[in-house]
Amino acid sequence: MDHLISPSLLAADFTNLESEIKMINRSEADWLHLDIMDGVFVPNISFGFPVIKAVKKVAAKPLDVHLMIIDPDRYLTRFSEAGANNLTVQYEACTHLNRTVTEIRKLEMKAGVALNPHTPVSLLKNILPYIDMVLLMTVNPGFGGQLFIRESYNKISELRKMIDSGGYNILIEVDGGIDTTNASKLIETGVNVLVAGNSIFGSADPEATIKKLKRLI
Ligand code: DX5
Ligand code: ZN
Repeated sequence: MDHLISPSLLAADFTNLESEIKMINRSEADWLHLDIMDGVFVPNISFGFPVIKAVKKVAAKPLDVHLMIIDPDRYLTRFSEAGANNLTVQYEACTHLNRTVTEIRKLEMKAGVALNPHTPVSLLKNILPYIDMVLLMTVNPGFGGQLFIRESYNKISELRKMIDSGGYNILIEVDGGIDTTNASKLIETGVNVLVAGNSIFGSADPEATIKKLKRLI
């Protein structure tokens, strides 16, 4: 399978959101990544339902929604109604993770589980049969523009082995500090989806950067 690109809107120009989303529509990006932060699970607050709904009206690509919020069960239906196609919850924020991901699938979204950099992938063993995607945080969540944590390569290899040996159909997504210098190695190590914020929206030609990340040229 070809790898997918999910540009992170957090790094976009919020005064020109419509033109930023139209640029993504024209580009070779596969999804659009939306980071939802509650100021409790992470030390930052991003945006909520009114913004997601507005984005949905313009976006031609599936919305890949990453929840960095405590107790996400309260809002699963509302994220579905706002237009989320993939819904990823943080492992560390869910007491009843099996119930949460089952509910996400019932709402006809892809169910993802995200791990903070310090959370071992071995903890996923009993949830793998119930999910569509694992998001490995490759920075500490909360902010864009941080440095990629190199220990992530070991986590990716370990998770790739777990998924392949179990015969699961699960995508590995990485998020944080991804750019054209580390993308190839990440794909070689077993990643399926690259999230990138600053390296795309902060570049001189974001559409060309997406093409580079997609084609790895
Ligand atoms: C971080 C977010 C990321 C962030 C990535 O908490 O989950 O999606 O937007 O931004 P970059 O690519 O700039 O590190
Ligand atoms: Zn994210």
